[in-house]
Amino acid sequence: MATLQTEYLGLQLKNPFIASSCGLTGTLAGVAECARSGAGAVVLKSLFEEQIDAELGAVMDANLAVHPEAQDYLSGLGKVHGPDTYLKLIADAQTETDIPIIASVNCISNKWWGDYARQIEQAGAAALELNIGTIPSMPAPDSHALEEQMVDTVRAVKSQIKIPVAVKLGPYFTSLPAVVERLVEAGADGLVLFNRFYRLDIDTEKLTFITGKMTSQPEELHLSLRWVALLSPHVSVPISVSTGVHEATDAIKAILVGARVVQMASVLYRKKTKYLQTLAEETLAWLDRHGFASLDAIRGQLSGSNSAAQEVLGRIQYIKALTGVS
Ligand SMILES: Cc1cc2nc3c(=O)[nH]c(=O)nc-3n(C[C@H](O)[C@H](O)[C@H](O)COP(=O)(O)O)c2cc1C
Repeated sequence: MATLQTEYLGLQLKNPFIASSCGLTGTLAGVAECARSGAGAVVLKSLFEEQIDAELGAVMDANLAVHPEAQDYLSGLGKVHGPDTYLKLIADAQTETDIPIIASVNCISNKWWGDYARQIEQAGAAALELNIGTIPSMPAPDSHALEEQMVDTVRAVKSQIKIPVAVKLGPYFTSLPAVVERLVEAGADGLVLFNRFYRLDIDTEKLTFITGKMTSQPEELHLSLRWVALLSPHVSVPISVSTGVHEATDAIKAILVGARVVQMASVLYRKKTKYLQTLAEETLAWLDRHGFASLDAIRGQLSGSNSAAQEVLGRIQYIKALTGVS
């Protein structure tokens, strides 16, 4: 029988299915439930820089609205889910489960992270995920300066702790490969592609903004698949696919393009965490049916290092597709 064992950020996971940072991973009960359901690892809900700011009496920042989890914060959860509570959650989750617990912080600046990252490490986190993302506004900041801020944050955190650090990014960059290269140079031990940021919609009766769809659809996977296929042959650190993984076949596609693991939130909200067990069983059955002994045997088979894949991956216009010829 095939094995699902996977190494990610130097951690040995029993399978590549990670419960992504979200409301389900923000409490000890939620984390324990993910572990019981068979998750390979759990990424805790992010602690927000604003929460640390708030504890220090500073004013909340408009950047908060970029993330879906801003909802939780605004509804009050953030107030009880502050830095001290977060350290306790890490320690308790680590003691009560037998899977790696990955902490997550949302970074806007690099001002707190050196010190707080050390406390996260001491609390027992197996790794740290930096959830980085802001929306530039007018007057327009220089894109290189914004990217440099991300790189500085990674450098600052890495200089303080020994546990692995993964960087979770959104997909909106002019040259993602250049950004990734600099983040890896700065010491990032892994990449999570991509975060799915908070979405806005408009109520046309009340003429107000409302929350858009909080959860992803399976078809949203395509963006991560393309980018992981393009990047994985050139990046020395493991990549985790996030956004749009809803079925075992989605995870298999992610591994085929070179991902090490997959992270899921939406499908766990929809089908409950016990679905993690089904995902593992179905992936094992697929490997057995195709005669593969492990995920390593298929990893990267459809990545950009494969010349047949290269042409497809570089295509973003529907030139021939419109005439019926692919
Ligand atoms: C309700 C909710 C809360 C989330 N909170 C966080 C968070 O605190 N930190 C983070 O990095 N991502 C957060 N996310 C994003 C998810 O971790 C994940 O990247 C995104 O939902 C895409 O994956 P999916 O298609 O499996 O849902 C949240 C998502 C949802 C739906």
